[in-house]
Amino acid sequence: MNSSTILEHAETFVREHLAGDSSGHDWWHIDRVRRAALEIARGEGADLFVVELAALLHDVSDWKFTGGDSSRGPNEVREWLQQQAVEPATIDRVCQIISEVTFKGAGVATPTTSLEGQAVQDADRLDAIGAVGIARAFAYGGSKGRAMVDPDISLEMHDSFAAYKKNSGPTINHFYEKLLLLKDRMNTASGKRLADERHRFMEQFLAQFHAECAGQR
Ligand code: ADP
Ligand code: NI
Repeated sequence: MNSSTILEHAETFVREHLAGDSSGHDWWHIDRVRRAALEIARGEGADLFVVELAALLHDVSDWKFTGGDSSRGPNEVREWLQQQAVEPATIDRVCQIISEVTFKGAGVATPTTSLEGQAVQDADRLDAIGAVGIARAFAYGGSKGRAMVDPDISLEMHDSFAAYKKNSGPTINHFYEKLLLLKDRMNTASGKRLADERHRFMEQFLAQFHAECAGQR
């Protein structure tokens, strides 16, 4: 099977897999990540086929939807890629990227081991910040039954993936526990530049949000 047929099949597979999602992990998240990852990858000279395939498949059975199981996604993707007769070396590269991409807590490093992984991780993180990131955070919180805001629940800077997985705090806390940290964790120069702009927009949003909550506006 040639590369473009595999990518078409991956798109069909993931559209079906994520159909009906209302947590911000829908097809359009995947499509935005794919486009951003390819743009970053072109600038970095990364392997575009591996980047596109990993971007398309990166949220299949993500741990947030498997009761915290981080191995199910990469395992399902591996099986699917084998059915598509993708070369074993490519399968390994794609599955490695998928297992590295996710955020694991404020105090947990998430190193990438390839240029392709850097592009996909930056693209996924760009979609977690800015206007879209704000919308996705509240969509996710709502889908998980989280409070929007609760001043009685303090922030928690998680120092292990296990602690981060257990978190069930209000969505506004997630901005401080993850989203505002992302701009300093970007891998590529173009990712950093875009993240800075989106970061500023989130800061404006938070200032207005807190002022409204305090009855100042
Ligand atoms: P990652 O694998 O790095 O978490 P995803 O593509 O799965 O990246 O997107 C994660 C998105 O899910 C976040 O950007 C945010 O919108 C949402 N999310 C995750 N945890 C929370 C949370 N505790 N509160 C609100 N939103 C969350
Ligand atoms: Ni994602």
